[in-house]
Amino acid sequence: MNATKVNWEIPSLCVITGASRGLGRVLSLSLIKKLPRNSIIALIARSENGLKETKQLIKECGKETQVITAPMDLNTVSATEVEQLLAKLCQCVESSPVKIDQAFLIHNAGTIGDISRHASSFKDSDEITRYFNLNFNSAVVLTSVFLEKILKYKTKFRHIINISSLASQKAVNGWALYCSGKAARNMYFKVLAQEDPSLNVICYGPGPLETDMMKDILEHAFPEVRAFIQKLSNEGKVLKCETTVARLFTVLEEGKFKSGNYVDVFEKL
Ligand SMILES: NC(=O)c1ccc[n+]([C@@H]2O[C@H](COP(=O)([O-])OP(=O)(O)OC[C@H]3O[C@@H](n4cnc5c(N)ncnc54)[C@H](OP(=O)(O)O)[C@@H]3O)[C@@H](O)[C@H]2O)c1
Repeated sequence: MNATKVNWEIPSLCVITGASRGLGRVLSLSLIKKLPRNSIIALIARSENGLKETKQLIKECGKETQVITAPMDLNTVSATEVEQLLAKLCQCVESSPVKIDQAFLIHNAGTIGDISRHASSFKDSDEITRYFNLNFNSAVVLTSVFLEKILKYKTKFRHIINISSLASQKAVNGWALYCSGKAARNMYFKVLAQEDPSLNVICYGPGPLETDMMKDILEHAFPEVRAFIQKLSNEGKVLKCETTVARLFTVLEEGKFKSGNYVDVFEKL
């Protein structure tokens, strides 16, 4: 069965992680441009300044929107901290002049990890735990609290967007933690979608992007990986965040995927 199509005309509640820069900032701005006035958006990341800049850019769109910045380190975040943020959002929903009938949760925050090492070199389990705290655990905790809190409003549509990567499908030398983290997240969201057919869940691979993460990759990846990405860049296949967000929105509008599935930016549906 195909996913539920996103209706951009419904005032919505949005929660997005990694909104201080890169893809998360562009996604936040693009969402608010698409959605009607009176929508509510919570921006999560560590950098308070980065979040304020994103908020300012949203304000400059000129659309009446409630923007909540939530500086938070998802490496160490607890359910209590997330509950406090959600309680604040619930107040916004309750005092809204219009019915908020659609909710988006976007898991975008992520790190590439140490990509200069072979898969057999990870002996420190604390290092692995730290990586998974941010890149897997925090997404599970945030999803669980979000769904619990949002349930009482009986929002007609609930969309969960897991920003994934082709690396969740394909092994890349040196990317053991990144590939494993993205694959684990995809499977968590697949199970979630299967258990609750009322949710609309997508694991979206945005393609190679011109962001800080890409700079990190070009600096630290194995030579063969760097050469491959350089080739993609020369062929114009490293995308602007705006390009991949436009594709994601089309995919969401058309709803031609099965909820919980992985969809890549370059895939024809
Ligand atoms: N760039 C690519 O080529 C590419 C390709 C495929 C998939 N992706 C995926 O796309 C998503 C966005 O990547 P990007 O390229 O925009 O990366 P980026 O420019 O490095 O931005 C990462 C975002 O995650 C946030 N973040 C990092 N650590 C955090 C923490 N401990 N707590 C809270 N927030 C944290 C950062 O904010 P703060 O530093 O302010 O905390 C920032 O907003 C990631 O999930 C990535 O895996 C990227």
